[in-house]
Order: sequence, then structure tokens, then C-alpha cells
Amino acid sequence: MIQKPKGTYDVYGNKGETFIALENVMKALMEKYNYEYVRTPLFESSELFHRGVGETTDIVSKETYDFKDRGDRNMTLRPEGTAGVVRSYVENKMYGNATIPVKTWYYGPMYRYERPQSGRFREFYQFGVEVFGSESPILDAEVISIPVNFYKLLGLKGLKVHINTLGDIESRTNYREALINYFKPHIDTLCEDCKSRFEKNPLRILDCKVDHDLDIMKNAPKIVDYLNEESKAHYESVKKYLEALHIEYIEDPNLVRGLDYYTHTVFEVEASVEGFGSQNVLCGGGRYNGLVEAIGGPATPGVGFAMGLERLLTALEYEHVDLTMNNGIDVYVIPMDNGLEYSIALTNDLRMCGFSTDIDSMSRKLSSNFKQADKLHSKFIILVGEEEVKTNILTVKNNHTKEEYKVKIEDIVDFLDEKLSDDCGCEECNHEN
Ligand code: HAM
Repeated sequence: MIQKPKGTYDVYGNKGETFIALENVMKALMEKYNYEYVRTPLFESSELFHRGVGETTDIVSKETYDFKDRGDRNMTLRPEGTAGVVRSYVENKMYGNATIPVKTWYYGPMYRYERPQSGRFREFYQFGVEVFGSESPILDAEVISIPVNFYKLLGLKGLKVHINTLGDIESRTNYREALINYFKPHIDTLCEDCKSRFEKNPLRILDCKVDHDLDIMKNAPKIVDYLNEESKAHYESVKKYLEALHIEYIEDPNLVRGLDYYTHTVFEVEASVEGFGSQNVLCGGGRYNGLVEAIGGPATPGVGFAMGLERLLTALEYEHVDLTMNNGIDVYVIPMDNGLEYSIALTNDLRMCGFSTDIDSMSRKLSSNFKQADKLHSKFIILVGEEEVKTNILTVKNNHTKEEYKVKIEDIVDFLDEKLSDDCGCEECNHEN
């Protein structure tokens, strides 16, 4: 049997319902925030990610799905959404938009060749936002508030918001120098990854999972001591606005994030549910004031975040949050005798009139059809036999109360509209209405 590729998964049944429910919540929330939907290709020129995400990151150096297309061009399946959205912002000259800042959101699959484990996939879904054109810390706080509010709307508890600042380019460069000087004499005691990070991106030594507990890590220089006045003021404002939004945060001076493009604010939201496992970072993001320029656009500040949907699903399961509402269907049509064509047409018309409708396509016996209507949680059953076809008067059964009605075909829409908005008195209707 051919199996799915390692690190991927199929969506069906309850999981499918949950994904759709999540999509609906994110769309509604983004409308409230006045963000615009963008969609970019699943693959882009490899160069975009080298320039956009950074050569020294694990994502680009070890995890990309690269291929040559038939025209011998180097292509890469997108490992994250920011670089593509920035490319689109530049290519489509969105900086000319009448309304600045340009606030965008996206949702879709990303690809990273990682070691699959719980909460870590090779194909995974991200919901993210990118905001362009403003340096205001109001937007850093707004961007952080989006996942926080999203999780709150879903009923997720036990969240921890970690924040840090990397300062502007000047502060970051000074800090980098300080880290190089500090780690140089200790380089032999660090893990192999850290040794190569020392050469390429010493900031990333700070979020090493292997050397994390070493004293040299704990005593390493802290970014706060290298921030210039502007960077300090920016960070203080972000914290002030988070407080105004009643968002509790933890300051984490070792939070540097795994992508090269960040300046100023960086943040992650963690699920602190017992037993959740090590892949507990639900989302991450931050400000990237130099990225648009690096991709070839005009100097434009940006800020954004992305969340993984798979880890969110696991967190929802841990907290027993069920987003699926199987309300059942409105109508189940049962063709009898010579009523099949009539039933097919009726089903189609009812669907087009807005009723969720299903039809027996298996030529079941009447008793099995009643059972099927129950399994589908159908509120009404319409029986169509020779008599109904001849008279155009349908036999309609309320599947909860078992009451039976004779309804003229021209009145069926009004009848169903009225009855479906009624509370018929049964337990299920009480529950649903
Ligand atoms: P990231 O931290 O690489 O940031 O990914 C964001 C989120 O995607 C993670 O917190 C995690 O929930 C999820 N994620 C990442 N890799 C995997 C994986 N292999 N399997 C399952 N979930 C995963 C970014 O991607 C940045 N583009 C975020 C950003 C947007 N920064 C500014 N704007």
C-alpha cells in the first residue's frame, strides 16, 4: 500500500470539522481587526528564502524542500509565510496603497524537512499576519493581541506570552559583538551547533536547547544592556500597550527566535498545559524593520506572527475544547416506488434554497432509511412515492416529534423555514435553538 509521506497527515471526519471551525474563527477575527487576506504561492525562488529567512537559520540551512523545475530554476517549497508575503508586498507595490499601514493575514501549508515528532510535521499549517509601513509599537502590541484573542475565543487557557527585544540594527550589532567577545574563550565547551552558530549568528547560541543550563549561558551578556535609547523606548511602549490590553507577559532575555530577520520586539506564546510535550510553542513573531529592503523593496518597517494549527489542535484536545458542532442536517429525502427522479430534483432545489439536505442513494429499505435519517441527525424526512409525484403533495415527517404533515410542493420552503425556526419542544431542538 502506498503510504503518506513521513511527517504529513490526512484530515478527515472530526478533524476536518475542527479545521473548518478554526478557519471560520480566524476569518471572523481578521475581519474585526480589519486585516486583508493575502495568498502567495506554495513554492518560490529559493533565493527568496535565502535572503528572506536567512542563510544561517536551521530552516534554510537544513530544512528546506528544494527542487529544480523543468526550466532548471531553483525552487523551494515555502518553509514559512513571511518571506512570500514580503515578496508580494514589494512586487505588487502595496507600499503605494492608500491606507498605510498595510495589514495582511494568510493561512496555508508550510514545508520543513524536520525530524517528525509530536507537534512537529514536515507539512504543517500556519495562520499568520504581516503588517507593513509603521514603526509604531501600537502595532507590535496589536499583533501580539491577535493570537492571544484567537486562543481566548477558542476557550484555550494556560497560555504564557514571552517577549523580548533585539533592539534596532545598531543595538543588535553592538550586542552581537559583546556575545562574540564573551563566548570566544568558552567556544570549546559549547555543542557543535553552537560552534557553528558562533561563526554565523551568535545570538542563536542563546536559544540552544543543549547548552541551555550551562552557567556560561546564564551569565551571558543581556540585550537590555546594549539597547540604545530609541530601542529602549520602543520596548517600554510595547510593554505599556500590552498592559493596556490586559495581556500578561513574561520577559525572556534569551528569546531570540530561529529566523534572522527580527529587530526590536520578538514574542512567542506557549501552551502551559501539563503533559503537552516539548513542542509547546503555539506561535511566534516579531518586528522586522529591515526585511522589506533586503527583499528589494523600499525601506519599510514590518511586524507579524504565525501560529501552527497542529499544535493548537493538540492544545484544544488537552483542554477538552470541542469546536465541532454536529447539528445534523435539515432534511433527509427518501425516494420510494417511482419517486427517484422527483426526489433528486427536490433535493437539489432544497439545497439551493439553503437547507442542508441529503438523499438515499443506496435504495435502502424504508426501515433502514429511517435509521439512516437518525444517524444523520436529520430534523425532517420527506417521503416521495408515486402518490407524492402525482399530486405534488409531499409527506413530511418531523424526525424528532414524529408528527407527519402533508405539504404542497409550492409551500415546502416556507413550511421548512417556519418549522426549522420553531422550537418543537424536544430535547435536541431545545439544545440547538
Ligand atoms: P516560526 O516560529 O518558525 O515563525 O513558526 C511559527 C509557528 O509555526 C511555531 O510557533 C509553530 O507553532 C509552528 N511550526 C513551526 N514549525 C512547525 C512544524 N515543523 N510543525 C508544526 N508546526 C510548526 C515563523 O514561521 C515566522 N514566519 C513567524 C513570523 C511572521 N514572524 C513575523 N511574521
